[in-house]
Amino acid sequence: MKIEKVNQSRCDKDNWRDTEFGSVFSDHMFIVNYKNGQWQEGQIKPYGAINILPSLHSLHYGQAIFEGMKAYKGPKDETFLFRPDQNAKRFNKSAVRMCMPEIPEDLFLEGLFELLKLDEKWIPHGESSALYIRPFMFASSNFIKANPSDEYTFIIITCPVQAYYKGEVHVKVELDYTRASSGGTGAAKAAGNYGASFFPAKKAQEEGFQQLIWTDGNNHQFIEESGTMNIFFRRNDELITPPLSDSILPGITRDSLIKLADHIGIPCKEEKIGLEKIALGHRLGNITEAFGAGTAATVASINSITYKDQKLSFEDKSDSFARKLKTELQNLQYGRSEDPFGWRVTV
Ligand SMILES: Cc1ncc(COP(=O)(O)O)c(C=O)c1O
Repeated sequence: MKIEKVNQSRCDKDNWRDTEFGSVFSDHMFIVNYKNGQWQEGQIKPYGAINILPSLHSLHYGQAIFEGMKAYKGPKDETFLFRPDQNAKRFNKSAVRMCMPEIPEDLFLEGLFELLKLDEKWIPHGESSALYIRPFMFASSNFIKANPSDEYTFIIITCPVQAYYKGEVHVKVELDYTRASSGGTGAAKAAGNYGASFFPAKKAQEEGFQQLIWTDGNNHQFIEESGTMNIFFRRNDELITPPLSDSILPGITRDSLIKLADHIGIPCKEEKIGLEKIALGHRLGNITEAFGAGTAATVASINSITYKDQKLSFEDKSDSFARKLKTELQNLQYGRSEDPFGWRVTV
């Protein structure tokens, strides 16, 4: 792998803690091109502009996918990744769905490890701080015919981040727009899924909500996800979460929480979650917690869900399942507890 280093790091100059999530980027990026049916030699170079032409295929047809992961600093200044193989695998599933070439897992991980070693000083210490990692791939041929591209570019960029949500989280159930439909691309991390979600999400924000709860594309009767997170509810002394389908992104945090919950003795069932049942359960006092789960926000307790004209409020209790699971998960990610699952990877 070719490595071209920056002459001078920007690390000390950037006061990134006062900036928006994901707006300050570390010194280097990893880049590798796919052409003539094969992946070329990868290289690390200074973060910077990439040369593109107006005929760039992905700008027209949207063959573009990405991943979201984090590197964490441990108590002895170690650098940890959390289940990075799962991100590489999901990336390739997204690639297949979007008719793009899979990237060898070794190439993905080797590029990532080298990049992290080089930009290690960008990984912030501190509770809920981490280096957010954004691997992505886009169609990089230059033609405008609605056929799959021949050439692709894979890049990894990283940015230091703090907690995603800093205040309360109030969400609205979306009953008109759909994030993903059956047979669509919802289970892939395809860029277009996010582009299509911005308009309804913006409308919800204008109404004072932080996020939306996405419902099924057929009848809007079942809960699917919350914004860019998977969703869990506490029903009495158990957790429930919607089962995976082709319209739900298979979150790595979701999978980890299901396994962690089981490990600490909280039963968790994967079942279809009807909106009316949640509203009734909330009225009866059986549904007492709701939270989102994802890499960016880890575990985010939901303070209220507005469904039609009902506002279901949730008390943020100190012994909530959400807090318990968040602590367990972060202890694993930041290297503060034993890892019986083998999920933590030292860089
Ligand atoms: C739509 C959607 N659902 C769920 C998730 C959570 O996935 P993960 O836990 O792997 O970050 C994400 C974030 O990647 C997402 O974009």
